[in-house]
Amino acid sequence: MEILDGKKAAQAIKDKLKIDVAQLAAEGKKIPHLAAILVGNNGASETYVAAKVKSCEEVGFKSTLIRFEADISPVKLLEKVQELNNDPDVDGILVQLPLPKHIKESDVINALDPDKDVDGFHPVNVGKMVQGLPAFVPATPHGIMLLLEHYKVETKGKHAVVVGRSNIVGRPMSILLSQNSNPGNCTVTVCHSRTHNLKELCLQADMIVAALGKPEFVTADMVKEGAVVIDVGITRIEDTNKKSGFRLKGDVQYETVAPKCSWITPVPGGVGPMTIAALLRNTFTSCAQKN
Ligand code: GUN
Repeated sequence: MEILDGKKAAQAIKDKLKIDVAQLAAEGKKIPHLAAILVGNNGASETYVAAKVKSCEEVGFKSTLIRFEADISPVKLLEKVQELNNDPDVDGILVQLPLPKHIKESDVINALDPDKDVDGFHPVNVGKMVQGLPAFVPATPHGIMLLLEHYKVETKGKHAVVVGRSNIVGRPMSILLSQNSNPGNCTVTVCHSRTHNLKELCLQADMIVAALGKPEFVTADMVKEGAVVIDVGITRIEDTNKKSGFRLKGDVQYETVAPKCSWITPVPGGVGPMTIAALLRNTFTSCAQKN
């Protein structure tokens, strides 16, 4: 069994970005600028956005964090999105999800300028991605593709089972893995909460992408010997022994599943860091398109 070390692979991507940004600066060109909007004070979202902003600093990007109270009116939020759309200095806009219930997420996503939608959630980017055209690809599935590429994991002709059909991970992941690309060229099955024979399908998988948000859902009896297992889950479990008060659990029961795998991602240190690296790559691309 080998570890798909997302921390290492993400660092390699960030190191390269750092050099590329320094080059832009040396040529007197524009430096990438990511604007992140955080609404309310969801603990996990706070952590994710802080990590994204910190990574921007690490590679030399500009970043702006815009915070709103949870009860902000949808109109005010949309006004801010418009302002950022119109700001020529801003290359990427990220609205951290989930948003409070009174705000329709699709309204906010649809208001983004697709050319600044570095999360790849806008229907224009989703449509382009489905057609295999250049587009901003959502950071988590993009990061997983970069991880598979980094470790040269063979995917061609393999049966990939994606567990979860969210717009952020499962659905785009299934599209990317099925595309005529490397990594890619998989035969893909998408499973979800209504799938009847989930265990049987997983047992047929050469690769499992677990993205359903249920800690330790994938157990050893569901995994074929030699499978590649990608764990997207990051659920916070209360742990009074930890300074933070919680520890992170993936969607895969790591201890029992890992011995059966050819490759597996740990949690933390697997998909998470790659998500940030992919977001930075998208922001750099957006800036390069202007430069
Ligand atoms: N919430 C969970 N994942 C993501 C992500 O990749 N981007 C944004 N904006 N919100 C998220």
